Amino acid sequence: MGVLTTDRTRSLLPQAWFPLSHADAIMANDQYDLVAVCDVDPQRASKAADYLGLPKDAAFTNIDEMLRVHRPKVLGIATRTPGRIDLIRSALDAGVLGIHCEKPLSQSYGDVVAVIDEVYRAGAHFSYSTLRRFMPAYRQAKLLADGGTIGEIREVVVDLAFKDMLLWSHPHSADLLIYFSGDDVESVNAVCDFGGASVDGRVLDCDPRLDFARVRFKSGRLGLITSTDGMNVRITGTEGSIQIRANGESIEVSRRGAWSTFTEREVIRSANGPSGTYQAFEELRTAVELGAPLAVRLDEIKANQRILWAIATSALRKGATVHSDEVDEDLIITGRVGEMTA
Ligand SMILES: NC(=O)c1ccc[n+]([C@@H]2O[C@H](COP(=O)([O-])OP(=O)(O)OC[C@H]3O[C@@H](n4cnc5c(N)ncnc54)[C@H](O)[C@@H]3O)[C@@H](O)[C@H]2O)c1
Repeated sequence: MGVLTTDRTRSLLPQAWFPLSHADAIMANDQYDLVAVCDVDPQRASKAADYLGLPKDAAFTNIDEMLRVHRPKVLGIATRTPGRIDLIRSALDAGVLGIHCEKPLSQSYGDVVAVIDEVYRAGAHFSYSTLRRFMPAYRQAKLLADGGTIGEIREVVVDLAFKDMLLWSHPHSADLLIYFSGDDVESVNAVCDFGGASVDGRVLDCDPRLDFARVRFKSGRLGLITSTDGMNVRITGTEGSIQIRANGESIEVSRRGAWSTFTEREVIRSANGPSGTYQAFEELRTAVELGAPLAVRLDEIKANQRILWAIATSALRKGATVHSDEVDEDLIITGRVGEMTA
């Protein structure tokens, strides 16, 4: 996600998702000047620099050194989750003005609460890689939904169970619920398969596989995350529904027609536009240079992690209702699958 997009990833996503990696998105934007890359693995660092046509001394293995030498305005963080909070802190200490960070933010909710507060106090601009809210199809659907096309929004259903793992896949699902329903979560019920892992002290050492989650918002709206694949999102209101199909390939709007059912259907090809990563970095640039607002707010990023932690807590309690204020800030979810973490 940082630099080298794999062939497998290229084969899995529609063309509209590219450029996907942070570096490809920055290179495609002539308002940016990509000055350096960093990877703790020296071979990966120099392979990245070669691929990007950067000089050899632009490849670093230590973030603090890179930040000291180059003093960049903007940093993209695309490591896996462990240690990511420390990288954000390094960036804030070095006076970086804009940070675009991969999901999920951390292995604990308490870390996220703390670091979001530090970002806020530093006055830095912080963007989060839940990419769909940066993409034309999802933005178009939100305009339609907020504009009253389907009446009053009642329910959002997200079928993004590509890998069905809580920390790997479902930051995206939680973000879509927040995007279409608001960030004010009341309660969560969920069922997960922990693959035999149990909570040892405060550590849940796995990436839970989600069967089902129901998120109730204070507005009365419901959000459902299913274990269905297909990359569809459906927003249903009192007068119809909007379905964003196949990872943003098209939008289908259904409105009330005969027999009082949603029989009036219209398929809209989603608008062309830049990829989610490109748009996220472009909006981060305008935030840094002009103070423009970002499409994802700090409280939404916090709410995202709170939903994930409430899902795990509810599942550990066999699906019991977990209220938003009951989330255990100290619970660590490693997101580990085999040797890999989310
Ligand atoms: N937003 C999306 O749609 C999306 C898609 C795919 C992956 N991701 C996320 O992106 C993240 C990265 O995924 P990936 O597949 O690119 O992982 P990866 O393992 O291929 O790459 C991560 C790299 O970070 C390096 N690294 C680790 N700690 C570091 C440190 N302290 N300083 C510098 N480099 C360090 C590692 O050596 C490795 O090369 C994951 O958290 C994943 O969830 C997001």
